[in-house]
Amino acid sequence: MCYIWKNPTHPDYEIDLRTLEKLPGGFDYLNITGGEPTLRKDLMEICDTLYPKTRKLEISTNGLHIEALEPIVKKYPDIKIRISIEGFEFTNDRIRGEKGGYKKKIDAMNRLMNAGGTDLGFATTFQDENIEEVVDLYRYSKKLDVEFATSAIHNGFQFHKNDNFMYDRLKVAKGVENLIFDMLNTWSVKAWFRAYLNLGLISKILGHDRLHPCTQGTDCVFVDPWGDVYACNVRNDLLMGNLREQPWDEIYKGEVARSVREKVAVCPQNCWMVSSAKTAVRNKHFAQLPKVSVMRWVAVNKLKTIFGVPIHFSKYVDYSIVHRDSNVPVRVSFLDNPEKKNLQPQKSRHYTQLGEYFNR
Ligand SMILES: C[S@@+](CC[C@H](N)C(=O)[O-])C[C@H]1O[C@@H](n2cnc3c(N)ncnc32)[C@H](O)[C@@H]1O
Ligand code: SF4
Repeated sequence: MCYIWKNPTHPDYEIDLRTLEKLPGGFDYLNITGGEPTLRKDLMEICDTLYPKTRKLEISTNGLHIEALEPIVKKYPDIKIRISIEGFEFTNDRIRGEKGGYKKKIDAMNRLMNAGGTDLGFATTFQDENIEEVVDLYRYSKKLDVEFATSAIHNGFQFHKNDNFMYDRLKVAKGVENLIFDMLNTWSVKAWFRAYLNLGLISKILGHDRLHPCTQGTDCVFVDPWGDVYACNVRNDLLMGNLREQPWDEIYKGEVARSVREKVAVCPQNCWMVSSAKTAVRNKHFAQLPKVSVMRWVAVNKLKTIFGVPIHFSKYVDYSIVHRDSNVPVRVSFLDNPEKKNLQPQKSRHYTQLGEYFNR
């Protein structure tokens, strides 16, 4: 689902601390993602730089390098750590090409809990190969008392991928319904709103329009390994500037940003990644609260679960419309593929030329 590993960056050319220091303070949320953040030798220093600049700092990680994460969690117990997991042992290791990966992730999670982490969780990306396991994975996360974040396979220049499509959109979408029901059937307010974000994933999976317009470029930006600032991690034509070469204000408030936002406002894609989904459901006037329509959906459907009334998803989703894809390529496992060993870090910017990165 992701070919970042096939396109490794050269450490000498990656974004440095001096560039990150140029980010202003006052962010609501910063996510150190990748590639794999724990491969950076200066990850602790990156956290030291970014932690004071944001209400919440997250590291998205494969969880295979616990030695890099443990000291960070000890120093910053409320840092958000999301370990990617795509299923139980066989499914996770096959999808992610990680020999022994599942066991390492569970061990890492236990060690981070023992280290005092207060905002730990798993992150799963829905696809045909794992949809039948997601409810059990969620229940397992609840048993461990850790969070469970979700997304669905996307195309995007960050992933060097433009052929991520479901084989059976209807089946995957229906699988998400079970998870939504389970999340509403808890006493966690966070889980109820996550249920709504998963409703958005059903729309995304079926190829429908987004539940709420995208606000990338305004409420959220993506900074790539070379300091290039994009409105999002999907369309590489939405470049706003470069943090090495320009001050933040010039990038965020400049003329280029204005024209990029005009393109975002009419973007035909139906992405629903955590970044563009969470920002889109926020209340315009009180950013810490969701939109009224979202609160209404949560209230109505939570009440239904309390009184044992079934949730008719067809009220919110038109299942008779399913986007059809032509020639969906088969996703293969790289678990035992020796290709991984021969990759050389590249010094130049090298987003693969896969045409226009598109999601529908
Ligand atoms: C790009 S990874 C980077 C962090 C880390 N290296 C990892 O493997 O999780 C961040 C998140 O994106 C998810 N992801 C990877 N490929 C994706 C794709 N094509 N569409 C949507 N999410 C994807 C990963 O599973 C992970 O949860
Ligand atoms: S809808 Fe997708 S591609 Fe379009 S601006 Fe938003 S995140 Fe980017």
